[in-house]
Amino acid sequence: MARYIIMPKLGFNMSEGKLVKWYKKEGEKIEKGDLFFSVETDKTNMDIEATEGGFVKKLLIGEGEKIEVTLPIAVVGEKEDNVDSMIQDAFKQLGKTAQSAEVASKEQNTNSTDNEYEVTVIGGGPGGYVAAIKAAQMGKKTCIIEKENFGGVCLNRGCIPTKTLLRSIEALKEVKECSTFGVVNIDASNVQLDLYKVQERKRKIIRQLVGGVKGLLKSNGVTIIKGEGRFVDKNTIAVEDRTITSDYIIIATGSEAKNLPISVSPETKLMTSTEALDMQEAPESIAIIGGGVIGIEFAYFMANTGVRVTVIEFLDRILPMVDEEITAQAGEMLKGLGVEIYTGSQVMEINGKTVVFKKDNRRQSIEAEKILMAVGRTPNIEGLNLENMGIKTEKGAIVTDNTLRTNIDNIFAIGDVNGKAMLAHVASMEGITAVENICGKRTAMDYDKIPSAIYIQPEIASVGLTEKQAKEKYGEIKTGKFPLMANGKAKVAGEERGLIKVIVEPRFNEILGVHMYCLHATDMISEAVVAMKLEGTAEEIAMTVHPHPTVSEVVHEAFHGAVDKTIHF
Ligand code: NAI
Repeated sequence: MARYIIMPKLGFNMSEGKLVKWYKKEGEKIEKGDLFFSVETDKTNMDIEATEGGFVKKLLIGEGEKIEVTLPIAVVGEKEDNVDSMIQDAFKQLGKTAQSAEVASKEQNTNSTDNEYEVTVIGGGPGGYVAAIKAAQMGKKTCIIEKENFGGVCLNRGCIPTKTLLRSIEALKEVKECSTFGVVNIDASNVQLDLYKVQERKRKIIRQLVGGVKGLLKSNGVTIIKGEGRFVDKNTIAVEDRTITSDYIIIATGSEAKNLPISVSPETKLMTSTEALDMQEAPESIAIIGGGVIGIEFAYFMANTGVRVTVIEFLDRILPMVDEEITAQAGEMLKGLGVEIYTGSQVMEINGKTVVFKKDNRRQSIEAEKILMAVGRTPNIEGLNLENMGIKTEKGAIVTDNTLRTNIDNIFAIGDVNGKAMLAHVASMEGITAVENICGKRTAMDYDKIPSAIYIQPEIASVGLTEKQAKEKYGEIKTGKFPLMANGKAKVAGEERGLIKVIVEPRFNEILGVHMYCLHATDMISEAVVAMKLEGTAEEIAMTVHPHPTVSEVVHEAFHGAVDKTIHF
């Protein structure tokens, strides 16, 4: 039912208030909790949230107008409500004629309607396209600018293609090991991967997913603009030979592979993950510089296709972001596949096919047919004209707060370009968070509860603090552990390697971290993320029924172990 919104009385002595800003426009949908308007009293400025949802039918006063408390300032109702008589009555109370109010309202709306779009997103990766869809769903006139394919690195040159290649490895291993499961009469000694066919399957999956994203954008009413966007001013973007104006702009331009500042001879053909993902033939050997996520996923893939793999890592262990116990087990698994790992090794130069590095103050070198550089990624900010815009950057990344707003009020930066956590799922959530803030909701990213996933077998997945980090931060902690070999479903699946480890704060049994190195880890980690988000305790998970037989029982058992004793081990 239609209703008046009145100038609120925000203090005992307040008799009138100035409407400083409308966060919603006439015709716009409003939800309970959305920022609606801002009021200035003689003491302070206060943002007022909507107490009920509906549509803004009429804004009765303009920004900057001062009126007595309790007088009507807006009419809110359902889309189909006829509110003409309510508006007439309100104008009488306000001492306005309908005509004068109409002029005020037009002036009021000029700022926003001058621009062609309400939200413009630059970059169509998992951050940008999700932000554009969300903005359109929240009623904003939205466009997205993309120079290549939708889906960004994730769909085209990252997550999805890597996982496609790794899936082929799983299929290969299953066939090789099928006699264990009673599948006989297959000559397992002859089975091998046809990389050309693997690539064909990869391309098909990418094509389908990229097409799907484009379809979603279109069906949500997002305008697609092809080309490279560049700031002209805080509301204007130049794309090729046209300009676009927009109330809000979201930068989602992603990142690219980093290179080391070392000497590389001209004849060396260094690969990044992009070229490595497109290999049509397996080389005899590969040197991988960097034992992070990309380095280790490729090492695993290559070693399983019979390639001689060497990993050279600067720090004292591979996967330095993962819990140490899990890194150690994963390292052993890789060594079992024949991967040679040099840690504490700094690459100095690359000459042809020779990688020269320093380990224990000694110069060493290795030769490999291919060399993959996987030492991190760097944000894509070049060509955006950020310097002239005065958009603040730090170490090459755009600086934002945890609502993703930059130092310029109407400009947001999401995904790898802000350098906070370079993960596709973080980018998407940042996109949603930025749009909610643009639409007046006050949401913020919580970077302490970001899951991460590494797709080797067994898989690695984690959230929160590692055991070492937790000890450094809290001193005393409790841990619970459960090995996969004591789980029925893991035994049935024939994959009994690995463990789940949970880290708990001892006073309230708050969950500090969960680390998995096991079958289905990347799917199962979400239980821990949700529990941490809801501030659940270790006892609460321990007292939650988990289905049997599943690998998720290992999570259950690990939490029992943290607060008391495991049952099955
Ligand atoms: P990374 O930051 O994960 O690892 C880079 C590694 O290179 C580190 O271990 C670092 O110590 C090492 N390194 C740096 N300088 C070195 C040097 N001079 N010599 C030897 N080693 C050196 O970066 P990576 O693996 O390139 O991945 C890039 C981004 O993409 C990361 O943010 C990662 O999280 C993300 N990604 C995520 C995936 C997933 O979630 N499954 C898959 C692939 C990438």
